[in-house]
Amino acid sequence: MKRLLYPLLFSVSFILTGCNSLQVLDTKGPVAKLQENLIQLSTGIMLFVFITVFSMFVIFTWKYRETPQRRDMIPPYVKGNKKLEIAWTVIPIVLLLILAVPTVQGTFSLSDSQKEQGEKMEITVTGHQYWWEFEYNDQAITLSNEVWIPVDTPVVFNLKSEDVIHSFWVPKLGGKKDLNPGGTNRLTLHASETGVYEGKCAELCGASHSLMRFKVHVVSKDSYDQWINDKAKGPAPDTAASASYEKGKKLFTSNCLSCHAADYTGNSDGPNLAGIGSKDMIASVVPNNEQNMKKWIKDPKSFKPGAKMPGFKELSDKELEALSNYLSHLE
Ligand code: CUA
Repeated sequence: MKRLLYPLLFSVSFILTGCNSLQVLDTKGPVAKLQENLIQLSTGIMLFVFITVFSMFVIFTWKYRETPQRRDMIPPYVKGNKKLEIAWTVIPIVLLLILAVPTVQGTFSLSDSQKEQGEKMEITVTGHQYWWEFEYNDQAITLSNEVWIPVDTPVVFNLKSEDVIHSFWVPKLGGKKDLNPGGTNRLTLHASETGVYEGKCAELCGASHSLMRFKVHVVSKDSYDQWINDKAKGPAPDTAASASYEKGKKLFTSNCLSCHAADYTGNSDGPNLAGIGSKDMIASVVPNNEQNMKKWIKDPKSFKPGAKMPGFKELSDKELEALSNYLSHLE
């Protein structure tokens, strides 16, 4: 049984880490790479100490064990040993220096006081229970639960909170930093490969803390410019003018618009819903389809406990269908 158990456990953990998009050691940018190198260096030093100490422990326990011949032996009295004492003082100092120098250097090079070369853009991130708001400072564009950045460009995230402490974390791009109410923290991230990277809140902030997720879309510089121009232009004219769509639009205006903007340039208390039709998830946690959208509008707390959005249980099935139809056209 045991012979099977260990390979099984190993393969399960291997598969699980393979599917997990929140990997710390699969870095996609210089900030994360530097942090990964520090993690590997300190793990290496710890392994060295661990293996040395435990090997000595095992060897000495065996070598000086009690045997019938040594039962009455009294070992000679040893008072001080200069060589040994110097060795076990100097070795830890050297190890700590090897650990400290790159760590302090790295910390300073990542801190914001150091000016980075090249283009640098700024995005304000606001944490809410339980969603993320991203504002492009020079573009008047607001996104919820997703952010788009160009590749090979350092991006400064200004981190704020609207309610409690959250923590901004995109493992493949770098370490976490808190979003505190009443203050702004700055975090510079830099992606060197295009792709979609998962982000997550890393500070216990309430019932739906683990559901507070977001996506970072890293695209080429050209696609980014194209994207930002499209969004800044504002919403495309309504083309899907079916009766159900029109009804949904009216319902949205009378029920939802006080909390949710429907275009990228709009600011709102609740998540901006621009582009919801083309997202694969509702509120970053529920697969986006008509069935789930209707359920979400009726009772959001069944998906995200503690969410501030009230449920709209009074809407009829036809009305929910119309609303969902309208939302699916917000692209
Ligand atoms: Cu926000 Cu945990």
